[in-house]
Amino acid sequence: MASSRSQETSSGSKRPRRKGLFITFEGIEGSGKSTQSRALAQHLRSEGFRVIETREPGGTPVAEHIRKVFLQPTRKRHSVDPLVPECEVALILAARSQHVANLLLPALQQGAIIVCDRFSDSTLAYQGFGRGLPLRELRSLTRWAAKGLTPDVTFLFDLPVSQGLRRRLNSTDVNRLDHETAAFHQRVRKGFLSLATQPLRRIHTINAGRSAQAIARQLITLLNPLLEEGLKTRRLAVKRA
Ligand code: TMP
Repeated sequence: MASSRSQETSSGSKRPRRKGLFITFEGIEGSGKSTQSRALAQHLRSEGFRVIETREPGGTPVAEHIRKVFLQPTRKRHSVDPLVPECEVALILAARSQHVANLLLPALQQGAIIVCDRFSDSTLAYQGFGRGLPLRELRSLTRWAAKGLTPDVTFLFDLPVSQGLRRRLNSTDVNRLDHETAAFHQRVRKGFLSLATQPLRRIHTINAGRSAQAIARQLITLLNPLLEEGLKTRRLAVKRA
């Protein structure tokens, strides 16, 4: 719930203090972020927090519908009508606007912790660095579709593209973007890493080549100060014992 109090962002500007905590997971295909996001959500629930697990594109019935159009392999579509980058952005933004308005903002207002598999950084990495669309316009469009919502913290799972793709292509739910060239995925990885170097300190780069247990421990260590702050300020909802 936005209150009249405001907090300083790392860029120095003021934004309204809100309830809840918005955590996003980002990374190239096969980086293991989805498994870790599920494990983190389970851990937070066991600690008594109210947790919503969601993903992008998707997270609401309409947005999940759009996800199917976005990820359907091209060969199943009319071969003369592949998705162009601008259409990719339009679909992603359409899904994001539904997700933000109908799930994320109401849940945050109730003090929930959102664990979200991908958000706006993926648009900059995939459609910006990967497809070559202008970053400035993408930033402004995604801010508009997300009603200005940005994550409190982002875990960027990083590993070499060859390792990630090997893991993905062995999976059963291969999607349209898994079939992109290694060069495309390299640009996406570089894009994510360059977003993480910006002086926002929101994005933590996680070495995804380590054991699942080591990664899970690191995520909890990074999150603990935010959880403590959220409990102290009653920004986070907890179940009664
Ligand atoms: P995943 O959720 O299984 O990782 O699949 C989602 C795919 O959608 C993944 O290939 C990245 C892609 N994507 C974009 O290209 N742009 C975006 O803004 C988002 C959220 C996802």
